[in-house]
Amino acid sequence: MQTSSERSRFRRRLLTWFDKHQRSLPWRKNRTRYRIWVSEIMLQQTQVITVIDYFQRFLKRFPNVRSLAAADEAEVLKLWEGLGYYRRARQMHAAAKKIVGEYGGRFPTAFDDVLALPGIGRYTAGAILSIADDQPLPILEGNTIRVYSRLMNFHENATSTAGQKALWQFADSLVTKNRPGDLNQALMEMGSEICVTGTPQCPRCPVMRYCESFRNGNPRELPNKGNQRIRYENLHQAAVVIRRRDRVVVRLCGPDEHWTGLWDFPRFRMNGRDSPRDIV
Ligand code: ADE
Repeated sequence: MQTSSERSRFRRRLLTWFDKHQRSLPWRKNRTRYRIWVSEIMLQQTQVITVIDYFQRFLKRFPNVRSLAAADEAEVLKLWEGLGYYRRARQMHAAAKKIVGEYGGRFPTAFDDVLALPGIGRYTAGAILSIADDQPLPILEGNTIRVYSRLMNFHENATSTAGQKALWQFADSLVTKNRPGDLNQALMEMGSEICVTGTPQCPRCPVMRYCESFRNGNPRELPNKGNQRIRYENLHQAAVVIRRRDRVVVRLCGPDEHWTGLWDFPRFRMNGRDSPRDIV
């Protein structure tokens, strides 16, 4: 997509597809910065289908920034229970307090102010302000890394500094003042529904004709994520369940432990030779 008229046709086709095929999701109605913020934080590392119920329960209990800021952290974590990555919830709580302290409880509208909030990076700030306020800001996250890499036929390492720079530049070239929030959501929706990992559904793709890897390459080979090695560590632990009638002993995990702020059974690290009997 070299020319601006080509990008303009691309946008038109993608938006027409989105208008017809977008999923009905609770955060797509009544798009306030607060609601989009909550949805975007929950959607990090978590599937849409899982987020729906959590989002509705969270919004019912905390309908605005002030109610979230005034809550006990334990209650915020309780509503997050099961979503995982609890740091997200603690950072949201801290951000809500900052918004009350510095902006009188009104979620900021300037990109740099939003970016300075705990737990918000370039992607989330762009997503919130484009979706809720139609500010023409680009986005780059898991789905769009895949979509852009395939559209561009981009074979460099997408996770490298140079790769990220090129992908952000491409994202920036796509977004304009015309419905930037819908465009960004359409790009993500395409990534999760059609331009999927592994075998993309190219025949169903509304913008196939603009896709450089479809025309001159192989979308399945992209994105190039470099050598991503996840390191796993084997932990041997024993948890102790102490019951008296219908009560059970749990303890609050401290700030320098796993599961900070959550309740757990007393838990001990074992060396490989111990059997659970040795430590109780
Ligand atoms: N993934 C993260 N945010 C999303 C959104 N707003 N629409 C579709 N998928 C998403």
